Amino acid sequence: MRISARAHPNIALVKYWGKRDSERNLPAVGSISITLGDLWTDMQLEAGTDADELKVNGEPRDDLLPRIARCLDRVLGEGRQSFSISSESNFPVAAGLASSASSFAATVVAAAGVSGREFDTDELANLAGRASGSAARSLYEGFVELENTDDRVAVRSIRDTQSWPLSVVVAITSAAPKSVGSGEAMEISRRTSPFYARWVDEQEEDLARARAAIAERDFMTLADTAEHNCLKMHSVMWSSRPPMVYWNAATLDCMRVVRELRADGVSAFFTIDAGPQVKAVCLPDEIDRVRDALSQVDGVEHIMTSGLGAGAHLVG
Ligand code: DP6
Repeated sequence: MRISARAHPNIALVKYWGKRDSERNLPAVGSISITLGDLWTDMQLEAGTDADELKVNGEPRDDLLPRIARCLDRVLGEGRQSFSISSESNFPVAAGLASSASSFAATVVAAAGVSGREFDTDELANLAGRASGSAARSLYEGFVELENTDDRVAVRSIRDTQSWPLSVVVAITSAAPKSVGSGEAMEISRRTSPFYARWVDEQEEDLARARAAIAERDFMTLADTAEHNCLKMHSVMWSSRPPMVYWNAATLDCMRVVRELRADGVSAFFTIDAGPQVKAVCLPDEIDRVRDALSQVDGVEHIMTSGLGAGAHLVG
């Protein structure tokens, strides 16, 4: 038996940073993201091996296997059969592009396919979120909101891809693996940053503004809210002990270029996750201008572009 699922990475416009329950991996704050349609991870499960084995883009990756295996256990139970697991992505896996989100979202959908059981998307989102908080959002299309409920998360698409088709330009400024993974880094922030409590307190306000801006297709309010939220998250990282500074000189230059474009009337804003890459979100007819401007920044190694896309689904 062989089953494949495809999921797309997502980028948060209002960020998840901090856990309220690290045992169950429940986030401390809600978040809003966009799912990227042109970047994908395919996860294939093939039964019939004696023990689990994992290949990522053709290379054996025993180091990544335990997290994927635990994710399969959550969907199929610990007594499940073993699989030859193979994951292929069309973007660099360690480049701070939420490859864990697309990997775990695809894993739960493929595992549900193997089980033969009917899962609703909400259940799969919660199972993916146990593996990686941001993965819960990749189950859904377009603009996605994750809300905290009592002992789980409630995730839904708040706008589809067609009714507001934004574009994303990703400027890769370093392909080196990150120094501290986001899960560990956000725990350090929770324990040590003097700004952490304030970050959590203000999140509802940013979520409400972003939600309304998305409902009204108000690009400039979304731009202002997303940049502010991103910079607040990085202020929490910077004020942690030890500090976590993921940016390099090119990251800062890209931020300046995006702000200059906006001052020039271009509908574009930046967002940055736990890494040095800059993601510029823009209206589709501005994509060439944004890509050209970012590709001229010293230190930008590579540019990728994407539109918005679908939630995780079975393929083949
Ligand atoms: C900065 O989802 O990778 O990208 O739940 O520990 O796996 P874990 O964390 P993860 O964190 C994502 C953090 C972020 C912001 C975001 O995507 O909302």
